[in-house]
This record gives sequence, C-alpha cells and structure tokens, in this order.
Amino acid sequence: MTGLPPSSPSPARGLPARGLHVITWGCQMNVYDSARMSDVLRPLGYQPVETPEAADMIILNTCHIRDRAAEKVFSELGRLRKIKDERTAHGEQTIIAVAGCVAQAEGQEILARAPYVDIVLGPQTYHRLPEMVARAARAGGAVIETDFPAEQKFDFLPDAAAPQTPGNLTAFLTIQEGCDKFCSFCVVPYTRGAEVSRPVASVLAEARRMVESGVREISLLGQNVNAYHGAGPQGDVWGLAQLAEALAAIPGLNRIRYATSHPRDMDAALIAAHRDIPALMPFLHLPVQSGSDKILRAMNRGHTADDYREIVRKLHEARPDLALSSDFIVGHPGETDEDFEATMQLVRDVTFAQAYSFKYSPRPGTPAAGAPLQVPEDVKDARLQALQALLREQQDAFNQSLVGQTVPVLFTSEGRKPGQISGRSPWLQPVHVTGTPDLIGQELPVRITERLTNSLNGVLEEEKVYA
Ligand code: 5AD
Ligand code: SF4
Repeated sequence: MTGLPPSSPSPARGLPARGLHVITWGCQMNVYDSARMSDVLRPLGYQPVETPEAADMIILNTCHIRDRAAEKVFSELGRLRKIKDERTAHGEQTIIAVAGCVAQAEGQEILARAPYVDIVLGPQTYHRLPEMVARAARAGGAVIETDFPAEQKFDFLPDAAAPQTPGNLTAFLTIQEGCDKFCSFCVVPYTRGAEVSRPVASVLAEARRMVESGVREISLLGQNVNAYHGAGPQGDVWGLAQLAEALAAIPGLNRIRYATSHPRDMDAALIAAHRDIPALMPFLHLPVQSGSDKILRAMNRGHTADDYREIVRKLHEARPDLALSSDFIVGHPGETDEDFEATMQLVRDVTFAQAYSFKYSPRPGTPAAGAPLQVPEDVKDARLQALQALLREQQDAFNQSLVGQTVPVLFTSEGRKPGQISGRSPWLQPVHVTGTPDLIGQELPVRITERLTNSLNGVLEEEKVYA
C-alpha cells in the first residue's frame, strides 16, 4: 500500500483548496493512475494531503490480482467510513471513491455493501472523474462508472505537466493498457479491458517533459507492454522497438525500461533493440508462469517452455549481460508433480536474477476458477517453497556475480547512513557508496565490493568520475 507523495503545482485559481488523499494498492500502473487522478482533480482545487482524516476526498485505488482482494477493500472501506462519519459530525463533507480493478469487477457489490461510497470508477474512466465528483456532490447519491467507453482514455487525460513526483530522477510512463490474451487464471482482460496503445506523439511529448524536469530513467508501463502498437506521426503503427529508439534519442534520457512483457510479443525487432540501443537496460521482466507445456496450454499462454528458452537464448545473443525476471504460478488446476518439476527444470535452465512466484488462487469469472483438478492447498504450499528456495539461490548467485565488477549506477538519493549515496544498477539492485549528494542525478561507474541481502555496496571509480 502506498500513500502518494504530495504532487506539486498550482491549486486552481478561484477555487477553495480541498484535500485529496489517494491510497494506492497494487502495481506500478496503479501508482501511475493515482498520479493521473490527482492531475485531473487539481483544476477543481484538490491538493494532496497526508492523511485521510484531513481529506475532503479519499480515493482507494485497488488491485484485483492478489488473493482476497475484495475483502481487503471492504475492510479498508470500513476504516474510511469511520473517518467519514467523524468528519460529518464536524460538518465536513467527504467524498469516498473506489477506483481500480476491484471497482471494475465488483462495482455493484461495493455500492450494495458500502453505501457510504460516493463514486465507483473503473480504470478506463479516470478522465471523467471531475464530472463524477460534481455529480456526487450535487446528487448526494452514488455514481458508478465502470464501462469501457469506446473512446480511448489516453486521448482524454491531460498530459502530465511534470513527472509524478517533482525532483524525481526516475519515472513511470504508461504507454499501453489492457490485455487481449485471456490467460486462464487472470482477471486483467475483464477488469482492464481490451488492449489500447497510446499514440507515439503523446508518449514522446510526455517523455520529453519528464526529461526536461530532471528525469534520467523512464519505465514504460503496460499490462502487455511489448504488444504496444501506437499510432505513429505519419498514420503508421509503431511497435515498442521503434518507440524505444525514438525515446533513446531524447538527450538526457540515460535509461529505458519496460514492463510487463509477454513472451508471445517478444519479436525480432524488440530483441534487436536490446542489441542496438544501449539505453535499453539489460534487465527484462518476462513472465513465463510455468515450465510445463501441458500447463502452459491450459493457461492459454500461446507458447511452450522451449519457445521461452529460445527467446532467452536470442536475447542473450543480442545483449550478453541481459538478466531476467519472471512471474510463476504454482498449483494451476491440473498441475501434477511432473508438471511442477518441468517448471523447476526451466528455472535451472534459464536462471533468473529475480522473480515473483504465487500460489494459484481462483478468480471468479476466469476459466481456471471453474476447472477440474484444483490442486490442494498443502501441495501448492510445498511447491511454492521449493520454487522460492531455488529462485532465491539464483538471485543470490546473480548478485554475488557482480562483486568485483564495475557497473554503472544512476544515483537517486542520499543513503541511509550519513555520507552515503544510493542508486540503482542496470539490473535494479540498490547500490550504496560513500559519496557526496552533488553526485545525485549522475550515472557513474561503481566497483561492487559486497553483496547484502537485497542490495549491494560499492566504491566509486574515482578516476572515471573526474575524467
Ligand atoms: N493466481 C495466482 N497468481 C496470479 N497472477 C495473476 N493471476 C493470478 C491468480 N489467479 C500472477 C501472475 C501474473 C502476476 C502479475 O500475478 O503470475 O504474471
Ligand atoms: Fe493477464 Fe498478463 Fe495473461 Fe494478459 S497476458 S491475461 S495481463 S497474465
């Protein structure tokens, strides 16, 4: 859970300042969406405040991917209700809005079980938030907007005038939303709707503004980011490789990342981009979910385990220092010991620098939820433990392999200890060195000296710093 940091500028002229508190759960897309909701509300006079108690409007931006998502939302809403009641007793109005994927999936249920909620809005309707606020304030009744409108939300949201957190050196930029893949276990195609790509000109304009205000690293976001197919300036269609090339040409932008990718969309152009564009970081989150062809078929993933191995081989050929991250699900319906062993074998073959792994948990309305051969909970537990132990071993080995090497680090903040500054390696590990704050914002070579649990220590290669 992340309370958004106060985001900057100008309250609208002539409107009283009103407090806005956004609670964000879930993925980076949600963090980004929360910032955009704050943006569209700023002209109405809404200014970020630190606590819900001080807020005239509270937005709970939800995530549906994890287990028991809906219950968590209702329990949080219970807490917010008390705050709203308390404020009402003092004559203060409070608008409560529920946004994000749980809003999309459970809109009616939310209004039935939590009638004190004023607005329920799905992820495709954020641009209409000001109008919904006005309607909620006027009517005093609940407003629900969870349709996927025909118009694309990217066309309606104002482009951010500044990075989401001013002064940031790294920023997220959503270029694509939704998914048409319909993996058996996943709610995203139902909650986020069909795949939509943002036009190239709008992405480049936002990226340029970010870089002008100091951003040095941009992470391109999308549920299926490498399926990007944005309208180009000449009425042509650009893929992610072409977009990355144009972004890399922006002076001052050192680093480009993208997440989350699907193996099926890892085409030759994108693999070549990893060879040709140095700014494209050699770290790729490419979920495979399972190493068993039978389970991959049941999951409707559209690729085999060997297809994945082959993509990884080509990526390493293009960019030998590229490291991988992945998502795994254990205990998908029908998964036998043999299938699970195929996943372990794939992990041993590919090796991952980092990974997320989950026990399968049924999502109502998805095909796998009603499938036969559900795997017992204790079997899932045992498989998850075994997989996580192997992945942890590989992560430690990867981090250890950097000790003694010199790697570029983009410094982004002062460290926890006095006299330290911290940044990120190309593979996203936090790196700490002894250094002065004036180096923050620079990308400098660092010799890694020590592996800690989840980060690295190093020393600045001074002769290069002052060269
Ligand atoms: N059960 C378990 N894990 C899931 N994920 C998505 N849906 C489910 C589910 N029903 C995992 C996938 C996906 C990641 C974001 O969450 O691994 O890549
Ligand atoms: Fe969900 Fe990703 Fe599959 Fe789309 S590709 S259905 S977002 S897991």
